[in-house]
Amino acid sequence: MLSERIQRLSGNLIREILAFTQREGVISFAGGLPAMEVMPDLDLDQVPPQLRQYGTTEGEPELRARIAEGLNRLGRACSPDQVLITSGSQQGIDLVSKLFIDPGTPVLVETPTYLAAVQSFHLFGARFFALPLSPSGIDQDDLHARLTAHRPAFAYLIPTFQNPSGYCYSGPTRIEVARQLDAAGVPLVEDEPYRELRYESVECTPICALLASAPWIYLGSFSKTGMPGLRIGYVAASPDLYPLLVRLKQAADLHSNRPAQWWASRFLGSPGYSAHLQRLRDRYRSRRDVMAAALARHLSGLARWEIPAGGLFFWVQLNRVLDTRVLLKKALEHDIAFMPGEPFFPDEDRPRGFLRLNFSHAGDDAIERGIATLAQIIRGFPG
Ligand SMILES: Cc1ncc(COP(=O)(O)O)c(C=O)c1O
Repeated sequence: MLSERIQRLSGNLIREILAFTQREGVISFAGGLPAMEVMPDLDLDQVPPQLRQYGTTEGEPELRARIAEGLNRLGRACSPDQVLITSGSQQGIDLVSKLFIDPGTPVLVETPTYLAAVQSFHLFGARFFALPLSPSGIDQDDLHARLTAHRPAFAYLIPTFQNPSGYCYSGPTRIEVARQLDAAGVPLVEDEPYRELRYESVECTPICALLASAPWIYLGSFSKTGMPGLRIGYVAASPDLYPLLVRLKQAADLHSNRPAQWWASRFLGSPGYSAHLQRLRDRYRSRRDVMAAALARHLSGLARWEIPAGGLFFWVQLNRVLDTRVLLKKALEHDIAFMPGEPFFPDEDRPRGFLRLNFSHAGDDAIERGIATLAQIIRGFPG
């Protein structure tokens, strides 16, 4: 009665934990939620009346033009005709899955990687080939071996302030990844919702800007810089792939919310936009530093971590190998939420003992109290 792929349908732990964290008194380090106090105003009073009507699948021309301008500034030559507005970048991931994946299709991903991409690729039957991540990115010999041995349909990478690790590929790694994808002719899917959340000066040219010939898809989002509730993201793609993505979007939902696109376009073009980004960066840098200090105070000797140069997460490796999904149950009893590491690993063989901690959402006092409590729970955890 149901489709064959329903057997591969899995839940998304983040979304399940999110319901719990909305309870009063819970300190949440779980979701990648922007801080409410730095969200822009949502003023929809002046939405032009014609935007109540159906729109084009590709999206509102003004917004597409602004996005293309931004990509050109980053070095990725792109015309507005290569930009498709989506309902969050998560929809871009769904369209990518439909574009490339049949049961058994080889897909190259980082390990760990974004769990909702794993969920989507897995639903369509992807066979994962995983590239272990280090703070400077993926290993070049590893990439070469995977590209030649498995001929993946595409490589899904999050090079800038990765989710969950917070790692940012170094400049040389970006150049080498682009060179290898060009040589193998393997399409790149580059997912970059965290690009603007940069707290240090680091090299982060998009890899798609460094490609000479390989097909590419770039996923962007207004969820982390604007507001996630509006569900506005975008896909930009090389001309060979773009028309197919547009048809897939047509079949999925005709087009994205027009008043929300209007808002996003005004937001991007407003004189206050760069000041807003600066405010976000200042706030999140300071939260990151508060969490770094709390981790050093309470988790030294229990775990290790890197301080991320951007993004929203600390990726913490406990010195003991324990199932962090079980640890989460204990933490929830104390009204603390975090993301267990296991679901971010695409292979069946999931390493244990990793936690992803978000630092943008909870306030400074809550971060200190939450990390102190978490450390106590880890110390008292059996095994
Ligand atoms: C790597 C990555 N891609 C895509 C998304 C989806 O973002 P949205 O659909 O809100 O644009 C997220 C959200 O956290 C993410 O971390």
